[in-house]
Amino acid sequence: MGLTTEVLPLAELEGAIQRRARHLGAHYTPQPLAERAVAGALGPLCRGLSAEGLLRLRVLDPAVGSGRFLLAALGFLDAATGRPGRFRKAIASRCLFGIDVDPAAAALARRALAEASGCEPAALEGQIAVGDSLLDDVGSLVGAEGFDAVVTNPPWISFSGRQAGALGHGARRRLAERFRSFRRWPTTHGAFLELAARLLRPGGRAALVLPLQVCHLPGYEAARAAARERCRFEPPPEPLGEGCFAGVVQPAAIVYLAAPAAAGVAAAAAAAAELEAPQPAIGNPQSAIEGAILRLMRRHQPAPPGAFRDPGVHTGNSAELLLRDEPGEGLVPIREGRCVRPFRLGPPRRWLAASTELPAGHYCRVGPPSVYLGARILVRQTASRPIAARHVEPAHFRNSILACYGVPGLDDAALVGLLNSTLLGFYHRCCQPDSGQRAFPQVKVGHLQSLPIARDADALTPLVARIEALAARGGDGGRELSEALGRLDSLVFRLYGLDAEQAGYVRAKMSGRA
Ligand SMILES: C[S@@+](CC[C@H](N)C(=O)[O-])C[C@H]1O[C@@H](n2cnc3c(N)ncnc32)[C@H](O)[C@@H]1O
Repeated sequence: MGLTTEVLPLAELEGAIQRRARHLGAHYTPQPLAERAVAGALGPLCRGLSAEGLLRLRVLDPAVGSGRFLLAALGFLDAATGRPGRFRKAIASRCLFGIDVDPAAAALARRALAEASGCEPAALEGQIAVGDSLLDDVGSLVGAEGFDAVVTNPPWISFSGRQAGALGHGARRRLAERFRSFRRWPTTHGAFLELAARLLRPGGRAALVLPLQVCHLPGYEAARAAARERCRFEPPPEPLGEGCFAGVVQPAAIVYLAAPAAAGVAAAAAAAAELEAPQPAIGNPQSAIEGAILRLMRRHQPAPPGAFRDPGVHTGNSAELLLRDEPGEGLVPIREGRCVRPFRLGPPRRWLAASTELPAGHYCRVGPPSVYLGARILVRQTASRPIAARHVEPAHFRNSILACYGVPGLDDAALVGLLNSTLLGFYHRCCQPDSGQRAFPQVKVGHLQSLPIARDADALTPLVARIEALAARGGDGGRELSEALGRLDSLVFRLYGLDAEQAGYVRAKMSGRA
């Protein structure tokens, strides 16, 4: 269905376009948030500029949607001239540029800017273009190169994992060729961060609304590194919390970039500071007691590299060809995340056609049987804290499960006891900013690899065996199980050297009482 962008009121059109373009990541930013991001990027650029100087600035939104960032830029530049209203037309027709892959969105942005500035929409035709900012040449689309500011909330689409968006092979290859962030972890928002850094002219600034994870997850390091090659992350990202606009449940942040003033890209790279993640509790303890507990725990070393891994079967775009609900010839049992409970591994509920030849255009990842059958402990991935069980009756498992191949010098049962303990759950919650999010919290290999693991924990082994037996009875295991879990927690507190007050604090915090 086409949308008539001249007739309907703007707000109605925005709603209709967003509903129709969900697959393009169309979730328009609330105007106050767009204004905040734009002020962060344009503020330092506009300081001390005359109206003439302001009119020479070029501001681009490469995923313009209905034009909310450009409207915010129009308002900001207009106010900065000191003569509000006088230069609005000139600002719109000289300073503002936008691109959207959705022609209806681009038309809407043109109309919104025209209404706000008094320009004719046709006068903005060249500047607000239809095109693919990631795959087309931005300069030829909007007739300008090198921007003083890039401001945007790009589409947040991930092309891997269980929520993966669809992407043809050709586009995947071309995106990987153009964006090094895409090779490591294919997402549109990672590629837009890299693009923004490339499009800035010396001294330019960018502000992007991005998932908070981009600031700290190891998977986004390639995107951060690509941006750092040209820019500094300055000022530090501003966390926005969860649900900061409709259609978005994960925590977001405004991420700022500043390109060095001289053409000193190498100097920028040398001076490039690490993208500052919003400080986990260790650097900014919510209380002195929390800081003291984390310091005590950090006296213990993490597991050696490779102890935890992520080899789970990734069905890619071929789940229907690979998975069955019933056993059969040539099929092997496969577990998924929900099979992993604390101290108890449920039986596989699905079966995998592990040696299926996939037709052209299909992809998946299935490793050799030894990586599955050799895992000694399984950890659930979609969870707000580690949940682990010994890998009894070994089978294949999907990528909703992480594998542990053991820690030298530590009994597997004791390790399961540590991983499921309230104290290690507390450590994870304090140190992983995303663990508290309501939507899809995930435990990652990097998180597990950074947990401090007490090696002298063999005293836990008999108690863990008892807990496993109680947990295997099903239900919630009754009073006996909860008493045994309480004893386990007390032993773990002692192992890490917590006193009674600290242990009480951890218990209260993890049960939501602190
Ligand atoms: C999250 S919306 C944001 C729109 C606007 N910047 C705002 O914040 O209100 C993302 C927009 O990017 C557009 N888009 C998606 N992929 C794109 C691409 N490769 N190039 C240009 N625009 C794209 C979508 O059509 C959508 O309008």
